[in-house]
Amino acid sequence: MKIAIYPGTFDPVTNGHVDVAKRAAELFDKVIVCVAVNTLKEPLFTGAERVSMIRESVKEIKNIEVEEFEGLLVDYAKKKNADAIVRGLRAVSDFEYEFQMALTNRKLSAEVDTIFLMPHEKYTYLNSTIVREIATFGGDVSEFVPEHVKNELIKKVGNVRTNRRRK
Ligand code: COA
Repeated sequence: MKIAIYPGTFDPVTNGHVDVAKRAAELFDKVIVCVAVNTLKEPLFTGAERVSMIRESVKEIKNIEVEEFEGLLVDYAKKKNADAIVRGLRAVSDFEYEFQMALTNRKLSAEVDTIFLMPHEKYTYLNSTIVREIATFGGDVSEFVPEHVKNELIKKVGNVRTNRRRK
């Protein structure tokens, strides 16, 4: 059984992430999407909220599981008996960061390789920061995220705005 893990912050999951997860699910027997910690980011959504939004987005694909984890990715990969780490490559600009991460992970554990998948070209410009920003200023994110994620975003940025006004 070939297992891949697809890690990321997913704050929130976008159609581009779903596209990559689906492609991975065609190639591997099991794909575990994991909401991981990037210490440089302060996510808008809690880990549990991000897991729940991803689960709903991939619920039709039977060989995808979604989990949250904190710690080193290579340790998680070992624990899950993963054969590969999957990452999306959208444009050349992603390459240096991804290259550094892949080689660092290989240094930490030679057993797990990183595989890059390209999302559909219509998603190459997309990232979670842009989606959050559009939603924050009342823009329409329907094209970029699944419907339920859009609804969660509207709720969340509404709360953030209210809290800001109270301060
Ligand atoms: N479609 C749309 N957007 C995409 C995308 C796709 N297919 N692929 C990547 N992105 C965007 C994300 O939305 C994100 O945007 P943002 O920066 O605006 O939030 C950005 O590209 C990259 O984010 P993501 O793929 O979520 O990765 P990350 O850099 O936030 O996360 C971890 C990296 C979590 C995998 C990494 O920090 C990690 O492994 N952490 C665990 C600890 C560890 O082992 N550290 C050592 C690593 S060498």
